[in-house]
Amino acid sequence: MRIVCIGGGPAGLYFALLMKQLDPAHRITVVERNRPYDTFGWGVVFSDATMENMRQWDAETADAIEVAFNHWDDIEVHFKGRCIRSGGHGFVGIGRKQLLNILQRRCEALGVELVFETEAESDADYPDADLVIASDGINSRIRQKYADVFLPDIVARPNRFIWLGTTRLFDAFNFLFEKTEHGWFQAHVYKFDDRTTTFIVETPEHVWQASGLDQANVEQSIEFCERLFAAHLQGHPLLSNARHLDPLKRGSAWINFQRVRCRQWHHFNGRSHVVLMGDAVHTAHFAIGSGTKLALEDAIELTRLFKEARAAAPAAGGSEDIAGVLAKYQAAREVDVLRLQNAAWNAMEWFEVVGARYCDQLPPEQFMYSMLTRSQRISHENLRLRDAAWLEGYERWFAQRAGVTVAEDAKPPSPMFTPFTLRGLTVPNRVVVSPMAMYSAADGVPNDFHLVHFGARALGGAGLLYTEMTCVSSDARITPGCAGLWDDAQRDAWRRIVDFVHGHSGAKMGIQLGHAGRKGSTQLGWQRADEPLDEGNWPLVSASAIPYGPNSQTPREMTRADMDRITADFVAATRRAADAGFDILELHCAHGYLLSSFLSPLTNQRSDAYGGAVENRARWPLDVFAAIRAAWPPERPISVRLSCHDWFPGGNTADDAVAIARLFKAAGADIIDCSSGQVVAEQKPVYGRMYQTPFADRIRNEVGIPTVAVGAIFEADHVNMVIAAGRADLCAVARPHLADPAWTLHEAARIGHDGIAWPAPYLSGRSQYETNLKRART
Ligand SMILES: Cc1cc2nc3c(=O)[nH]c(=O)nc-3n(C[C@H](O)[C@H](O)[C@H](O)COP(=O)(O)OP(=O)(O)OC[C@H]3O[C@@H](n4cnc5c(N)ncnc54)[C@H](O)[C@@H]3O)c2cc1C
Ligand SMILES: Cc1cc2nc3c(=O)[nH]c(=O)nc-3n(C[C@H](O)[C@H](O)[C@H](O)COP(=O)(O)O)c2cc1C
Repeated sequence: MRIVCIGGGPAGLYFALLMKQLDPAHRITVVERNRPYDTFGWGVVFSDATMENMRQWDAETADAIEVAFNHWDDIEVHFKGRCIRSGGHGFVGIGRKQLLNILQRRCEALGVELVFETEAESDADYPDADLVIASDGINSRIRQKYADVFLPDIVARPNRFIWLGTTRLFDAFNFLFEKTEHGWFQAHVYKFDDRTTTFIVETPEHVWQASGLDQANVEQSIEFCERLFAAHLQGHPLLSNARHLDPLKRGSAWINFQRVRCRQWHHFNGRSHVVLMGDAVHTAHFAIGSGTKLALEDAIELTRLFKEARAAAPAAGGSEDIAGVLAKYQAAREVDVLRLQNAAWNAMEWFEVVGARYCDQLPPEQFMYSMLTRSQRISHENLRLRDAAWLEGYERWFAQRAGVTVAEDAKPPSPMFTPFTLRGLTVPNRVVVSPMAMYSAADGVPNDFHLVHFGARALGGAGLLYTEMTCVSSDARITPGCAGLWDDAQRDAWRRIVDFVHGHSGAKMGIQLGHAGRKGSTQLGWQRADEPLDEGNWPLVSASAIPYGPNSQTPREMTRADMDRITADFVAATRRAADAGFDILELHCAHGYLLSSFLSPLTNQRSDAYGGAVENRARWPLDVFAAIRAAWPPERPISVRLSCHDWFPGGNTADDAVAIARLFKAAGADIIDCSSGQVVAEQKPVYGRMYQTPFADRIRNEVGIPTVAVGAIFEADHVNMVIAAGRADLCAVARPHLADPAWTLHEAARIGHDGIAWPAPYLSGRSQYETNLKRART
């Protein structure tokens, strides 16, 4: 096969050498515009796992890299005068030049033709090539040429960074944070040979501009960074080798990261198959240090597929079905790349918001934990595997801050099993049974089903149980099966349940109060959900007269008198809830129900004082809040559940949720329960593990109010990670509690936490359960 690689970075060189090694008959050329020893940038890092992968494909290259690389395990954070270090992270650092030179030498040894100082203008310049590899980097000319085929999606990110080096040697991967009068800067610092360290400085665009760096040339930028990080540089200079940049051009040394992904990775140009590889087809932010890893793995995968194709079709005389191989290459790589890009995205976002969200909010210990788990790929238990002593120290610190006394020689509880206090309420652990409609009440009265349902979950170890959305009037119900609190019979039935929970467990009991609004008068959840009843429908009200779905009733737009009546219903239900003994009350302002219909611009199109800007849309929900706050005992807290994103164009986004949370905080809310969606039927949510936690994180740390995270949190490891990182204060778990009433006890056993009490009558079940789990682990 005749192969031409346009671009001699890691992708092009490594693919060339692997293919040449696979079959010396392949005629392979790499065309590179730079000279062999010419490159911008300093060191790159990748993980031990990448090295292992490379070893399996070409031991000689792996050996050469291993001799040259610097290996280190520790990460050190320098923040507010503190230095915190944790180990077990396993990185390999190597100079970019050195890596390229190793690959170049290996190419030459195998007989790959390397053509330097040559600009490849187009794939059409190589008409004899069967295969053209577009390994021409992030600004790929080939990708641009076939943009209508490859359909690139390129997003420029808001932070500015400059890639520098220094002669100061650091013995760990260092992250340095320094505050200026304009905001925070951070440096990512890693040694890559015995003389040099990479030093990337990063800051948000507005801080960069306010600091005058948009007007600074390379030299002035370096002087600025040297002053800012003087304490860390200990007299060593910062250096630039960005020779490709104009040294006089102002601001030019500072780059915005561009996230690249492409819908299509390959194309037949009429003569040759052209395929994108490495940064040309995908980029990964340096916060996760994996762009080179992706480039090398692309090369490995494409080689593997050619090898496989040849083995499968010896009859074809060794001529590969190139198009078929390229299609398989895209299919195989795009999944892994997407996974890594998602993790890189989280890590990148962390560094974009760190100044505004974490630096001034989190104490150094928690800041370190938050940073280590920034990609959300490294979990709590994963940190334990990396550095058990550091994690245990952190757990001890966290537990003590939560008010737990931990003896010197005792194992601290993990964050999930620490108490949390709001006003006069202390919940024994961080697990909440999320509100879940059971559609099993008659005339709004909870019955034996509810007693057993809540009783089982209270005995099952959760710290706090919420009722389902409990409706403030008969016409506030979603379905005829919904529970209510508009009369004394309902109050007394709830009191029986609350008394059971308080009498037989350490759990606390909360009530969620709500009004269905335009989503009312529908069938039970397991019937045709959200569809009107076959008969006996009741009239609906909402912020505006817009039906929910195509078959839904059109609600009446609420008048001021309606608002007064319904506010009074909320107040009456609040008084009954207090009498019934509930410990906390949650105002349901989410999921498109009545209060939520006011908050979202998709459902609120009013032209009076209750529509328009967010302050207006929140006006009546805040009135209701103020009224129930006045009626609820002062020592008991109130939570507000919000849809933090409508998942539909024109709807609320996280920015609006922050504004709304601020208003509720000012009104006296104690905690925000951060859900999302279900506001409009046409929503397009983006689901995933812990997918709503970013809202809880943002509101907690930007608004400065405790939060509940909810949504696809289904393992103790998730809860620990969210709580320990300060992304939320409580975790609500819904569906797992339908599958397993004793979810908390079972998760405690799974992670070996023995500090949670099982109900005394169940103790013999506990020891057998724990023994079986231990056996299954060994
Ligand atoms: C600040 C920063 C830090 C980074 N840190 C890391 C890290 O720690 N770990 C990591 O894994 N990755 C890191 N990366 C990313 C990493 O450098 C890239 O992901 C990786 O180099 C991609 O390899 P590539 O071969 O696809 O592209 P490149 O390395 O960009 O190579 C492309 C080559 O093509 C050549 N070329 C382009 N067009 C033409 C043309 N028309 N004719 C001839 N030649 C051409 C270029 O000169 C270049 O040599 C970092 C990137 C940045 C910006
Ligand atoms: C059967 C069921 C009923 C629900 N009813 C309510 C409710 O009454 N009020 C509410 O705010 N959320 C309700 N939810 C949403 C849950 O509280 C939770 O936010 C959602 O299920 C995501 O959490 P999970 O991934 O742990 O299930 C309900 C969810 C389920 C599965």
